Amino acid sequence: MISSKHVIAVVGATGAVGREALAILESRQFPASRLRVTASERSVGKTIEYAGQNIAILPSTPDSVRGCDAALFCASSDVARRLAPECVKVGCTVVDNSSAFRADPSVPLVVPEVNGRELASRAGPCLVANPNCSTILLVVALNPIRRCFGIRRIVVSTYQAVSGAGAAAMEELRQQAADVLSGKPVQPKVFAEPCAFNIFSHNSKVDLDSGLNGEEAKIITESRRIWADTSIEISPTCVRVPVLRAHAEAATITLDRPASEAEVREAFADAPGVRLVDDRANNAFPTSLKASGGDDILVGRLRIDPSAPREPDGRSRHHCLLLSGDQLRKGAALNAIQIADALLR
Ligand SMILES: NC(=O)c1ccc[n+]([C@@H]2O[C@H](COP(=O)([O-])OP(=O)(O)OC[C@H]3O[C@@H](n4cnc5c(N)ncnc54)[C@H](OP(=O)(O)O)[C@@H]3O)[C@@H](O)[C@H]2O)c1
Repeated sequence: MISSKHVIAVVGATGAVGREALAILESRQFPASRLRVTASERSVGKTIEYAGQNIAILPSTPDSVRGCDAALFCASSDVARRLAPECVKVGCTVVDNSSAFRADPSVPLVVPEVNGRELASRAGPCLVANPNCSTILLVVALNPIRRCFGIRRIVVSTYQAVSGAGAAAMEELRQQAADVLSGKPVQPKVFAEPCAFNIFSHNSKVDLDSGLNGEEAKIITESRRIWADTSIEISPTCVRVPVLRAHAEAATITLDRPASEAEVREAFADAPGVRLVDDRANNAFPTSLKASGGDDILVGRLRIDPSAPREPDGRSRHHCLLLSGDQLRKGAALNAIQIADALLR
């Protein structure tokens, strides 16, 4: 567990994920004197506010993390590829939020609630990859069901907040919303499409052969890796929605063994990191706003897929649900901090 005896670096501290990591550390009263923050050369010399103090932003170099117990990497894949192995060499454990090492079999890809045991054998400074944000939310929400009934197939549609594309994208949504409401033309910069009052296919690159975009490909490969199950079939459709933070996902799943709706609901009792928000009478279910700023993945709209066959006893292998989770927290900064907690225990 990260404690005040540790020294922690946040690399890319000025970005959307980096700032969330600082917010979590601050809420745990981690001392400013044990914290180092780094960013790009553009930010070096400026300060960042933390717990009422201004902390100088350092360059993102191995020297800046020398003497740190762990560095939470909240920058791009390029930065991670260049810097993370060097940081491990100087004795600092790295938890990387980028996609740089997620497919590297020598680097664990970890969601503590699901495959945290992968961290048990790590001794000394090491590198651990934090999975893709939509993937983390999906596997945390579905893991209780998978444990009880097995999962053979997942068809999932995402409704992804713009903050998944960083701090500049959040600013773009705020600015565009103001421009549209005041009748001004919008000028997309971060996204190719206008993001205010619009829904569009995820902005990651589309593979010309498969038709999958990068986000969809990550959900497939990373979920399989985290669950250590290459046979699970996953069909994602990833879409951006005009929401600042907290992705939502609608999933239809095929179980290995049939279950009643009550049995699926029961699977969530005491499930770590998940909270049921499933009030049919009041039409109250997970929303991005309810999930924003929270640690839990909210799960609701539990129901048997009406289009699929049922067993004679009413059970079914086909179930639907809706989930929402703050991808800046559990989808990135919080998951990384939980990994560091486990490694520094
Ligand atoms: N946003 C999410 O929901 C989310 C979820 C999961 C994973 N991730 C991953 O987490 C990482 C950070 O994402 P983000 O959304 O926080 O991005 P962001 O808001 O754009 O922040 C990027 C950070 O990287 C720093 N940086 C840029 N160029 C750099 C360089 N050459 N050397 C060192 N630092 C540099 C920036 O510093 P300056 O301010 O100085 O430019 C900033 O602190 C990305 O790899 C992303 O894929 C993001």
